[in-house]
Amino acid sequence: MSVRPAARRPVAIALGARTNLALLALLSVAFLTGWIAFAYATAPARWSLVLHAAGGFAILAMLPWKSMIARRGLGRPRPGRWASTLLGVLVLISLVAGLLHSTGLLIYVGPLTAMDFHVGAAIAAVPLAIWHVVSRRVRLRPTDLSRRNVLRGGAVAAGAVAAYAASEMVVRATGMPGAARRFTGSYEAGSLQPGLMPISSWMFDAIPQIDQSTWRLPAGGREWSYDEISAFDDRLTATLDCTGGFFSTQEWAGARLDRLIGKTDGASIRVVSATGYDRRFPIERASALLLATRFGGQALDPGHGFPARLVVPDARGFWWVKWVSAIEVDDMPPWWQSPFPLQ
Ligand code: HEM
Ligand code: HEM
Repeated sequence: MSVRPAARRPVAIALGARTNLALLALLSVAFLTGWIAFAYATAPARWSLVLHAAGGFAILAMLPWKSMIARRGLGRPRPGRWASTLLGVLVLISLVAGLLHSTGLLIYVGPLTAMDFHVGAAIAAVPLAIWHVVSRRVRLRPTDLSRRNVLRGGAVAAGAVAAYAASEMVVRATGMPGAARRFTGSYEAGSLQPGLMPISSWMFDAIPQIDQSTWRLPAGGREWSYDEISAFDDRLTATLDCTGGFFSTQEWAGARLDRLIGKTDGASIRVVSATGYDRRFPIERASALLLATRFGGQALDPGHGFPARLVVPDARGFWWVKWVSAIEVDDMPPWWQSPFPLQ
């Protein structure tokens, strides 16, 4: 992007540049706020989703202008037009899947969820969007950021917030399934009925089959057997809120982590799964974390993390490590990990 001194240029081109820049800003806002919503299972998730949804509606509002630009661009014999078209298809899939999820018109698509399509298409669009912006330069001029245009942008933003608020009202007034979703946008599934709780993993972890008689858990300088861990009866009612778009509240039972690790001076606790997946927690949280062997009075099944899984109240599902195979305490700071798991 380059800044040029103000000079006369056709209105259509100036409008095109502004539309493209607005789209760039809105796509960035949608992407960023989507991930913030995934990082929290508490209030910040809601606030970022309000911004997120408004950003999505503003992108929809830009479609008539952008389709004019696209039609003009497609008329030029330029390499890579197919990639721009694919970008369009992915953004549309993401928008449609987001709206299907939020209204509740379609939540599950076979073993996947509308949310999986929503986020999957958005992630796939990122490299194409970067290529698109780099190869189709927009020439920014000082007048594009004039007071008048900034006010126009504000009006579009206000319109998008109003459209989002109106859509939420329609969802509630017409009793669409979306009316019942939680503040994170997730739908209730199988609460207090362990057999009906959906099974999901962050990415592609296959469910390991673990033999409870040979399973040993290294923690607190010793190895625990399955019987020893299941002898604990610490209880916690907590809600697993999955980034796949569902939540499920269960009564979990097992051993509080502070009982397993004992007195230690480390900075963080690393909980490792048999699949190699791991997450790290501040040591101060040990007494709030539960290594569960049971839910709703019955033993966990392999899909839900047998022999033992972590329960992390108020944190998204990807923190609830399943098939726990080791609990380690070390001096690494708890933030020394990728904010989202990479496997
Ligand atoms: C929702 C995201 C977007 C989609 C789906 C999209 C799609 C398209 C399509 C299909 C074309 C015509 C084919 C081509 O020239 O390759 C095009 C052209 C163009 N796009 Fe985008 N675009 C998006 C966002 C952006 C952004 C963020 C920018 C820049 C900041 C941008 C700048 C341009 C430019 C400069 C052209 C060329 C227009 C012309 O030749 O007259 N686009 N876009
Ligand atoms: C191309 C980028 C994206 C666009 C344009 C977009 C747009 C949208 C739209 C229009 C909705 C429906 C809003 C509503 O009616 O409530 C939505 C919902 C949602 N999006 Fe995105 N999104 C994008 C990427 C992402 C990403 C990357 C994530 C997560 C990492 C994400 C997470 C969510 C969640 C959790 C909801 C559900 C909100 C609710 O039901 O209240 N989105 N998105």
